[in-house]
Amino acid sequence: MERQWWREAVVYQIYPRSFMDSDGDGIGDLNGITARLDYLQWLGVDVIWLCPVYRSPNDDNGYDISDHRAIGAEYGTMADFDRLLAEVHRRGMRLILDLVLNHTSDEHPWFIESRAARDSPKRDWYVWRDGRDGRAPNNWESIFLGPAWTYDAGSGQYFLHLFSARQPDLNWENPAVRAALFEIVRWWLDKGVDGFRLDAISHLKKRAGLPDLPNPAGLPQVPSYAAHMNVDGVLDFVDELARASFRHRDVLTVGEANGVSAAQAEAWVGRARGRLDMILHFEHWTLWSRDPHAALDVAALRTILSRWQRALHGRGGNALYLENHDLPRVVSRWGDPLRYRYESATALAAVYFLMEGTPFIYQGQELGMANTVFASLDEFDDVFARNRIARLRAEGVADAAILAELALTSRDNSRTPMPWDDGPHAGFSTARPWMKLNPEYRTVNVARQQAEARSVLAFYRRLIALRRTHAALIDGGYTALLRANRQVYAYLREGRGERYVIIANLSARPARYRHRGFLLRHAELLLANHAVAPHEDTMHCRLQPFEARIYRVPDAARPRATTAARTAAAPADEELC
Ligand code: NOJ
Repeated sequence: MERQWWREAVVYQIYPRSFMDSDGDGIGDLNGITARLDYLQWLGVDVIWLCPVYRSPNDDNGYDISDHRAIGAEYGTMADFDRLLAEVHRRGMRLILDLVLNHTSDEHPWFIESRAARDSPKRDWYVWRDGRDGRAPNNWESIFLGPAWTYDAGSGQYFLHLFSARQPDLNWENPAVRAALFEIVRWWLDKGVDGFRLDAISHLKKRAGLPDLPNPAGLPQVPSYAAHMNVDGVLDFVDELARASFRHRDVLTVGEANGVSAAQAEAWVGRARGRLDMILHFEHWTLWSRDPHAALDVAALRTILSRWQRALHGRGGNALYLENHDLPRVVSRWGDPLRYRYESATALAAVYFLMEGTPFIYQGQELGMANTVFASLDEFDDVFARNRIARLRAEGVADAAILAELALTSRDNSRTPMPWDDGPHAGFSTARPWMKLNPEYRTVNVARQQAEARSVLAFYRRLIALRRTHAALIDGGYTALLRANRQVYAYLREGRGERYVIIANLSARPARYRHRGFLLRHAELLLANHAVAPHEDTMHCRLQPFEARIYRVPDAARPRATTAARTAAAPADEELC
């Protein structure tokens, strides 16, 4: 199989506003990132994904770009960017940019020109429609709540925005728009960046005719994902983008692809297709977002992740992730930060990190950071949170209830400044940070965890090293084990004559399992987050809350199950105690 560097890589996602401030304005910046590259190199990271640093009014913290070829003043200058890129490359690492091609800021010159008049040459660069009886052109709701249309009094029409009213959607049906965007992509590649994370890429195509969606409940607007998420024809746009800008370059492209199923993934990232290298799917989010109060359903997680493993094995890249800047912290979602922070952060890490694919780490995840503490509704910064507050207040919901909801669900949880040490402002800045620090920074910070052998950070570092030195963990096959177990997530990676078993109790209760297929020997234990007694050469064992172990399985302990047996619904060689 052709070697692709990114298959062996580990990606680290930086939210620049909150990573490191070098100039004392309380906002993270490019020189701050450059100053912390040694840390990322020490950790073992290969690729940095930089969330947007372009010029932007920051209605959505940079996902509203007003100049694609300029750096936002708060982040520094283009010279700072060039220096960062050079320093990344000097360390043998790579840098990918987060590019937003679905929409721009309303302050982008294209939109300013577009809105200026109905006959503006750029009018058709965005999606403009007449209203219907003084109301929006259709009943779609924006992803950030409220109508997906805003009326422009100057020109007497409505424009479409799937996200905030300050993020008008570009009209991808217009070839001039596509050409202008492809030119931007090539401009950055010519500068030497190593690829892109492509924001909201599954939303580029809108359902033809922009029709109303069914509204049996008579709502003012209806959730409109179905009308713009992975709509037929979107892959033609992606195809054209790839052909025009990156297909023949050795870069990494990662599409944010809400709404794309495992069954459809090959069309997006299949090697033979030449479209994207990987997509970030949302399927495992839904386990949490459907009910943020519910405990992790291990069986459902296994079903989803295994489906993605099967769908792309040998065909295309899988992006492995548990956190990003749009999600609350994973130890707060699925772990137990109060009683088992170390154990739950590391068990979750072991489970997702060693599957087939490219692991992504979101800044602070490697410390096991938990959700932050919000004292009042004024502390929320995120545009979605602000819109949600306005809506719930309008519905008469008490502030305390709104606070309880957002404390659990808000994207701001993962956007607090990076805690580098326990000093003033957590070593993030010399000034008061733009967003309140997570108060746990005094105990959860980089300096402290670097000094401790038993820290989440040390575990991530060992995981990265382990993956790097065991080829079967990169491209070996994946088989889910203990498939009836509701607490333990276990799987086998197998290839090149090597095999590994990853086994983790993802619950806060002790778990038991028995597996007749493997003898797991203490001498072959590669990594664990609990002490394991030497006599525990075993096919059955008791796992502590959130205990995780990674074993090499020697040849002598070959599984007896055939491939056919392993794919059967209830494997006979697995029993639960
Ligand atoms: C997805 C990004 O990850 C998110 O942060 C942003 O708000 C939306 N796309 C809109 O660009």
